[in-house]
Amino acid sequence: MDYKRYIAERIQADGILAEELEEMLAVPPDSSMGDYALPCFKLAKALRKSPVAIAEELSASYPADELISEATALNGYLNFKVNRKGLSRDVIGKILSERERYGATNLGGGKVICLDYSSVNIAKPFHIGHLSTTVLGGALYRIFNFLGYRAVGINHLGDYGTQFGKLISAFTRWGNKETVEKGGIRALNELYVRFHKEAETDPALEDEARAYFKLIEEGDEDCLALFNWFKELTLTEVEKIYKLLGVRFDSYAGESFYQDKMQPVIDELKQKGLLQESQGAQIVDLEEYGMPPCMILKSDGSSLYATRDMAAAIYRKNTYDFDKCLYVVAYQQNLHFKQIFKTLELMGKEWAKDLVHVAYGMVSLEEGAMSTRKGNVVFLEDVIGRCIEKAYTVIDEKNPALENKREVAQKVGVGAVIFGALYNSKIKDIVFSYDKALNFDGETSVYVQYTCARAYSVLNKAKEEGFAAESVPDAEPCTQEFELLKALAQLPETVRAAAEKYEPSFIARFCVDVAQKFNKFYFDCKILQAEEEVKAFRLALTEATLTALTNALSLLGIGIPEKM
Ligand code: ARG
Repeated sequence: MDYKRYIAERIQADGILAEELEEMLAVPPDSSMGDYALPCFKLAKALRKSPVAIAEELSASYPADELISEATALNGYLNFKVNRKGLSRDVIGKILSERERYGATNLGGGKVICLDYSSVNIAKPFHIGHLSTTVLGGALYRIFNFLGYRAVGINHLGDYGTQFGKLISAFTRWGNKETVEKGGIRALNELYVRFHKEAETDPALEDEARAYFKLIEEGDEDCLALFNWFKELTLTEVEKIYKLLGVRFDSYAGESFYQDKMQPVIDELKQKGLLQESQGAQIVDLEEYGMPPCMILKSDGSSLYATRDMAAAIYRKNTYDFDKCLYVVAYQQNLHFKQIFKTLELMGKEWAKDLVHVAYGMVSLEEGAMSTRKGNVVFLEDVIGRCIEKAYTVIDEKNPALENKREVAQKVGVGAVIFGALYNSKIKDIVFSYDKALNFDGETSVYVQYTCARAYSVLNKAKEEGFAAESVPDAEPCTQEFELLKALAQLPETVRAAAEKYEPSFIARFCVDVAQKFNKFYFDCKILQAEEEVKAFRLALTEATLTALTNALSLLGIGIPEKM
């Protein structure tokens, strides 16, 4: 039930649109005055009356009903009281009938949303810098599907460029099959780092690497075999992490996939008079738009990251006919995306307006900044592993008798990593702290999970006692129950807003808000010891809470242990 909309549509203020009124409606911090309030000073200018007079008049004409029981004027505010019984019937009824679909809609109507996320680089560490794109993209993927869109997850692999020539050169010189097979990405990264170190004193290495890369491009069998092997090794490792994080992709078409799809783009740019020569390179001039030129071909004729992204965007439009194509990529690439979006627009692609760069901030570890250059990286696998270990220690300390501690620790540890990356507005830089992420009393996933386990325990006990209510009794909720119900009612709107603003953080915040309100209810109100009618109502409310939290957490990719 969207109360703001409902109220706004029934306020009789001459010449003011319901949408404007909806915007003005606020939720007072103290609900004893009302559940919603209209600050009438905002209408004073348009209606040419004092706020006090406006509030009085609007209150007299407001049609109170089943849903809104009162509209009272007080000091220039119009305060609305929600009919608690009505709200409770609505919310609990809706959640318990929609179950795992509570919060879902058919808003998307099957429209396609392409989501480019995670997009790892082959043979390079999957490090903490990829955490946000992976979990943000994974969450948006689930959110859009939940809203009736058809999300297409694309891992735009970084599998093209001279670095692969370098890797082949390094492997041929210093590597061997066993070490690389055993060491995986780490071993490949070591070879790569060694290449750079040796090339400082032996510049001929660079030429060798370029020659190898050329061989890959020309389809030389041995080089391709090595390259594909590197790719396979990387993907096997990366997929283990995707599995832990509950992330999936529909396509792994990476940069090399566009090797034979760039020439038509270059031809089209040329034909449309957009390509210019500049110091031997081919560029699209964007000065008029306040940007440096978009480089399409280097002076040696080789393509660039941007060239491949242009080809990829066109390919995606042709293949998926997307309604929107999102790029979940760090804000460091703001300019890159602005340039390619603009260039596509100049080419006359009217759909260029549907390309969105979903930028996010940096993640670093509290323990110290990372530096990729020197090969001194924080592997995401290590961060997750460490979080699971720490979770295990905490659980073992709090509940040593728990049966499946390993399983629980995994859900808690992985949850903490995901939630830590998703709790704040995505554009903020974040410093990840293991202790904060695993704080049972903080604004954390473990706090939410623990709340769910508490709800499970209440519901299981009721079941053991053989308690089964026929139907949900119509009760007048007390303040704690009412606050919880209002919070629960927010899920559909929260999911919709999360999709619109590309902010899974809204859902993370919903979880904490609901958990806090549930705990207040849990500690202040007896559930199992209450008399029959009240008990049945409170159990239904507990079940509704668990359902809403389960849906919300699973949109983020976080599971819930039944016992903790
Ligand atoms: N592989 C790139 C990187 O790690 C990210 C690719 C993002 N996607 C894209 N279509 N450019 O920086």
